[in-house]
Amino acid sequence: MPIEPNGPTEWSPTRSRRSQPRRVTVVPGGPVLIEGPVELQLDDGTTVVSDRFQVAVCACRRSRNYPFCDASHRRKRR
Ligand code: FES
Repeated sequence: MPIEPNGPTEWSPTRSRRSQPRRVTVVPGGPVLIEGPVELQLDDGTTVVSDRFQVAVCACRRSRNYPFCDASHRRKRR
């Protein structure tokens, strides 16, 4: 998934209009699933955009592709 530095983008969730509420699903022990497309603003100020139909956002902070889930949450911790 592309990671773009903070900057102007064509698409913005604040500008889009939805007739239905956006569904967010919390997976116990796993990611947060969000209906895409999404624009995520990270704690370091960068913005990450994904135009996927559904986006899995890492909630465990173990992903090598953070902020997106790469299934690292399934690995056993030592
Ligand atoms: S939730 Fe899947 S890697 Fe973090």
